[in-house]
Amino acid sequence: MILAIETSCDDTCAAVVGHDGVIRSSVRSSQDALHSAFGGVVPEVASRRHLELAVPAVERALAEAGVALAQIDRVAVTQGPGLIGALLVGVATAKAIAFARKLPLVPVDHLSGHVAALRLAPLRLAAPFACLLVSGGHSLLIDVERYDRLHVLGGTLDDAAGEAFDKGARLLGLPFPGGPQLEALARSGDATRFPFPEVLRDRPLELSFAGVKTSLLYRLRDLGVGAEPARADLAASFQAAVVGQLASRASSLLAETGRDVLAVVGGVAANGRLRDELAGVCARSGARLALLPPSLCVDNAAMIAAVALDREGISGRELAELDAFARSPLRARGIGGQVS
Ligand code: KG4
Ligand code: ZN
Repeated sequence: MILAIETSCDDTCAAVVGHDGVIRSSVRSSQDALHSAFGGVVPEVASRRHLELAVPAVERALAEAGVALAQIDRVAVTQGPGLIGALLVGVATAKAIAFARKLPLVPVDHLSGHVAALRLAPLRLAAPFACLLVSGGHSLLIDVERYDRLHVLGGTLDDAAGEAFDKGARLLGLPFPGGPQLEALARSGDATRFPFPEVLRDRPLELSFAGVKTSLLYRLRDLGVGAEPARADLAASFQAAVVGQLASRASSLLAETGRDVLAVVGGVAANGRLRDELAGVCARSGARLALLPPSLCVDNAAMIAAVALDREGISGRELAELDAFARSPLRARGIGGQVS
């Protein structure tokens, strides 16, 4: 049994996953209510809350799995990227457990974790496949040759897709976290009422959301106090612009890689309109769409355990010296980068 801990942003997560890839428990203590008063995640507030929630989250994950700490034979933890203070709480907790129980510890890249969620039961998606990773902090187009060989073929030039949803929602006066709220408001809106400009038409593997966000700002300003009845139409039109761009890039990714499976992971993969449009892209490309339940799309610790399934882990001095990192090698290496 693997015990995994994930604290890269504002959710305190712990999970128990069997070596057979079956999730025995996956606990997610959300800090949304705490941060909504500030309209976004406050790093220092998140770290302090992780300190309070980390041990109870581990205890709950073990209890829900019906597993004793003595039955755990490997510990996994998100090493980065993310908020450094938040990550350090998870890393310190995992190190303490590994030391006390004399267990190997597997440090995990958060982005590899999002992709590895696809390995878990019942989906058990086999590589190779093309993957769209869309979360609050990242938007990447990845060719997954193997789970330990990810090739980044494209990404965003500015905001991540989830960040665009969150900022758009904030402009529309919706509470944090904005993505799901914006989707809910858009449900009653007319997505064709406010066309947004198409971006980067000649760069099919790159994304950019800054222009869409600015267009929304100007539309709201132009509508002034009259914006109120048009808010749902604006939300629907904005969502259509963001999702439309993701769908066109997903289509380019399939063409570029020649893969016959498209997977979508990260928090934004929970978006219903995105799921529908990607189904259309796959139907047109003759590819299969691989989707996860929303609980495995958003940040969770089961995906961190999924990376550790075939890794030995570190111990001794290496374990003692393990540190967190704020930026991912996947991202730092940029487009064309590879992580294994
Ligand atoms: O993967 P995740 O939980 O955390 C990061 O690693 O960033 O993704 C969170 C992001 C947030 O920006 C949130 O607004 C967005 O995913 N999100 C959504 C939806 N659910 C979550 N965006 C659009 N529609 C949704 N239904
Ligand atoms: Zn994430």
